[in-house]
Order: sequence, then structure tokens, then C-alpha cells
Amino acid sequence: MDADRRKEIIATQKPEIPWANEPQMGGYYTQAEFDAVIRTMEECNKPHVGFDANGPIVQEFERQISAWCGAQYAICNNGAGTGLDMAMMALELEPGDEVIVPAINFKAAALSVLGRGGTVVWCEVDERTFQADPEDVERRITDRTRAIYPVHMNGMAAPIDEYLEIAERNPHPTHGPLKVIGDAARSPGAKLHGQRVGSRAWITVFSFHTMKLMTTLGEGGAVVTNDPDAASRMRQIRGFGGDCWGTNYKLTNVQAAVGMVQLERLETMIEERRAVAAERDELLKGIPEITLPYCPEECWHTYYLYTCLVPEEWAGDKRDRLLEIMREEYGVPCVVANPPAYQSSAYLDRNTDHSDLPRSELLGRRIFCVPIHPLMPSSDNEYICAALWETVERVRNE
Ligand SMILES: Cc1ncc(COP(=O)(O)O)c(C=O)c1O
Repeated sequence: MDADRRKEIIATQKPEIPWANEPQMGGYYTQAEFDAVIRTMEECNKPHVGFDANGPIVQEFERQISAWCGAQYAICNNGAGTGLDMAMMALELEPGDEVIVPAINFKAAALSVLGRGGTVVWCEVDERTFQADPEDVERRITDRTRAIYPVHMNGMAAPIDEYLEIAERNPHPTHGPLKVIGDAARSPGAKLHGQRVGSRAWITVFSFHTMKLMTTLGEGGAVVTNDPDAASRMRQIRGFGGDCWGTNYKLTNVQAAVGMVQLERLETMIEERRAVAAERDELLKGIPEITLPYCPEECWHTYYLYTCLVPEEWAGDKRDRLLEIMREEYGVPCVVANPPAYQSSAYLDRNTDHSDLPRSELLGRRIFCVPIHPLMPSSDNEYICAALWETVERVRNE
């Protein structure tokens, strides 16, 4: 995109409604979701039916989720945060047990470890994919390690088979092979070697929060597993227990009805995101300084986020200056997703050892994500790219 074209786009194509850094509504609803809400409300609005969340509507959504991702069991719940808690409860951590968590991450996974009395052992991520670096994971295993807890970062599948191999190779002295638990809050529908995330790890956790790829009226999620014991335990935890402790983490019927429509439409919404990302890759081809998203051949990226890097020399202040110009002068906010999680949580900062993470510290000062959404029109995408390109030129010359 040459300078004249950039200037023309900036003068004429400013989006009418500015894009949020991470849009508040990650997908979108159609008449089919509206109809599902009304239909479910009408069906349940009877004295002998009601909105029991253990009933056939949620069960059907669970059946569809497990068939869709190839896991034997799916348990819907009210969000990925509680889903991660359920996974950690199923793991039955004992004091001193360690769980390996990538540092470049949202805070929820690490919080779920601390919430069960475990110890978080941070690991580095690969600087091209932002996924937990298998080599570094293995380096951090001790005889207290119980699980590897990768996040499928920013919409792309993590190399789960590599973690599974490491887990087999380094068994816990009494519990055997380490468990691999995937946080796929941002990645429902992402594929590795053509297979959707969810069938390989011990437990995989999805989010249907309003910002995510598919949504169930604001909050919601699901955990999936092939382990019948883990499934039974998590099902009990979600609904006031039985053999084990439990409480109420349920998804409502109306959410499940909307979720079924969203699940059916998920691949379409992802394809729309992928088209925006592909168009953007072209528009930004040749942009100096910026590293654009990398997607290994074996991955099918959902582009939950469009993740970029500034060069090392721009880490910190210059990256922040770039974000400031984008936001203040062009009205395009970008999100830093994510800095090391202990930097966005005082609790994690105080309660974890983060003394040996030079790569994550540096990446956290280089990373930024440019707004993306399945409904973003080309003219807005062009504007955002022109703004980024102009901003890079400015920052370089300041
Ligand atoms: C990677 C990751 N894990 C977990 C969560 C928590 O998801 P939820 O909002 O559904 O509890 C999020 C949501 O922001 C996330 O991005």
C-alpha cells in the first residue's frame, strides 16, 4: 500500500462506528438465534416444563458439542473461568503439586491452579506462535509436576501432541503420565492437522463469553473430555456434587438453544474472520518493522485475534507509542494480548515465581493485536491497515 493510497484511505474511509480493540460481541446473531430464544422461552414457560438446566435442551447442546469436536463427553457450564476451575478440581491437586502454565496468557488458567492450592510454574512461549514452547515445558518439569496447561492462543491450536508426548515421557512418580489440559477459550473450531481442538487433551475448556468466537448471550462455556471419570466428576461439580463437592455452574436452556445455532454457524463466522485476516495480510504485505501473524501449515487459524509484533528495538516505549497514535489519532485501539499474566494480576504477581521468563517479558513488550471481526467491511480493514502503516512510519521517524 503506497503512501498516496494510504493518505486517501485515511481521508475518506474512517469507520463510522470505531472498532473496539477486542469487539464486545465476537460473533453475531441472526434471526435463527432470536427465534431459538423465543421458542425456548415458550417451550419452557409451562408449569410442568420450566427452565431446568439439566433437561433435554442442554443435553442436546452437549451432544452436539462432543460430536463437533470429537470428544466423548461435553459438559456445558457458565464460562471458561469456571470450566478451568472444574478441570483443576477434577485433577485433585495436592499441596505442592505443580502445573505448567504459559506466561503469555490470560490470567484465568493460573488463577484456577492457585484456587486449588497448586503451584504455578510459568513457561515460555514460542515467539512465532505464542503457544507454550514444548522444549521449555519439558525443562520445567519436576517430580511434583501434575499437569501441562497450554492455552490455544489467540484462536490457533497449540501443538497438543507434542505436550502429550512430553507428558508420557515424564510421568509423575505416583500419578503416572502428566495430564494435558487445554484452555481453548479463544479457539473453539480451531484445527490442527484438520482436527478440531478438543479431542486430544485430557480436558479442553471452551468459552462462549460475549467477546468470543461463538457466544451464548453473554456468558457460557463447555468442558470436553474422553475420560468418563473426569466427565462424571465435572458434571457433579457443575450441579451441587454427589460423590464429590459441587455447586451451581450451569448454563441455562435459552443459552443452550442459542449455542446450538451458534455452533452450526461457527465455521461460517470463522471463515469470515479468516477472509478479513487474509485481506489484511495482503494489505500489510511489505509493511516495515511489523511481524504479522504466523500460522504453521498444520494449523487452521480462527483469528480470534490478529496478533502482531514490533521489532525488539521497539519493545516497550515505542510499542506503546505506536498504540497511542493508533488510538488517539486514528481511533483504532489495539489490545496487548497478552502480557505475562502475572503483570495483569496483582494476585498472580504476589503468588507465583516469575523470575526466569526473559522471552515472555520481552514478548509482552512487543506484542499487540489489531481489531478484527467477522463483519468487518473491507473499507474499515483498509482504513485500519493504512493507519497502522502511517503510524509505523511516524514512530520510526520520531
Ligand atoms: C484464554 C482465556 N481463558 C479463559 C477465559 C475466561 O473465559 P470466561 O469469560 O468464559 O470465563 C478467557 C476469557 O477472556 C480467555 O481469553
